Amino acid sequence: MLKRVMILWAVGLMAGAPGWSWGPDGHRLIAEIAWKHATEAVRAEVVKLLPEGETLISVAPWADEVRPQRRETAPWHYINIPVEAPRGDWRPYCPNDECIITAVQRFAARLADRQLSAAEREEALRFLVHFVGDLHQPLHCGDRRDRGGNDVPVVFRGRPTNLHSIWDTPLLAETLQREGVRDRLLREAGPDEFGLATAGDPGQWVWDSHRASGEAAYAALPPERPALLDGEYAERAYPVIEQQIRLAGLRLAAMLNRALDPAARKSGR
Ligand code: ADE
Ligand code: ZN
Ligand code: ZN
Repeated sequence: MLKRVMILWAVGLMAGAPGWSWGPDGHRLIAEIAWKHATEAVRAEVVKLLPEGETLISVAPWADEVRPQRRETAPWHYINIPVEAPRGDWRPYCPNDECIITAVQRFAARLADRQLSAAEREEALRFLVHFVGDLHQPLHCGDRRDRGGNDVPVVFRGRPTNLHSIWDTPLLAETLQREGVRDRLLREAGPDEFGLATAGDPGQWVWDSHRASGEAAYAALPPERPALLDGEYAERAYPVIEQQIRLAGLRLAAMLNRALDPAARKSGR
């Protein structure tokens, strides 16, 4: 009996194991929000850069697919900022300048650089759309010496998994199934919302995610291991996830507009 429980436990842990990113649906939704807020010039440039049949939305999960073969890309999906660290300088938490913030900055610059080849700029676009998304997953930016919750066993909806994975996938999926959420996420932002959401830069945006890790992902975590999480924990996560997905989409649009359309600023985008 105990052995059976252990095996089920191990299988459950493995099912949640990759702990890499918002699930593919989250990345695609973020890209869809961004697409709605990209200027015409940006859309035309994106169509030119991507192969026929691919879209900003279809390539959004791509960076997770190549992660196993391209091991150097693994640190670009996250930054482990201790949950108790005060808002401020993120550089101490970005070893060798290899973390999600430098990745977002580097790929935005490469996308904008018309001296680079089309293939190089296409790859920059694929990475940028993905990493701006991951930057908004709270546990990709907050850490309690547990690899952003990857090392914290939990049982969620009766399934053994880990804390990081439930934020990547089932909590997000539940958020998106709630009444009105998709419509709110996909509605067009007015200039006030767009301006407020996109003010600053990735080095400032990371602290929104970091704060959410402390206030929602870790704060409500019961002490037992595995932590048995229930509806109350999920209820607290939903609005945080909704807000982070919205910010990710608008900020991705702003980064694409800045990189590819010098005239975008004049139109408030
Ligand atoms: N690997 C180590 N830390 C991680 C994090 N915070 N998110 C995703 N993968 C990780
Ligand atoms: Zn990722
Ligand atoms: Zn993840």
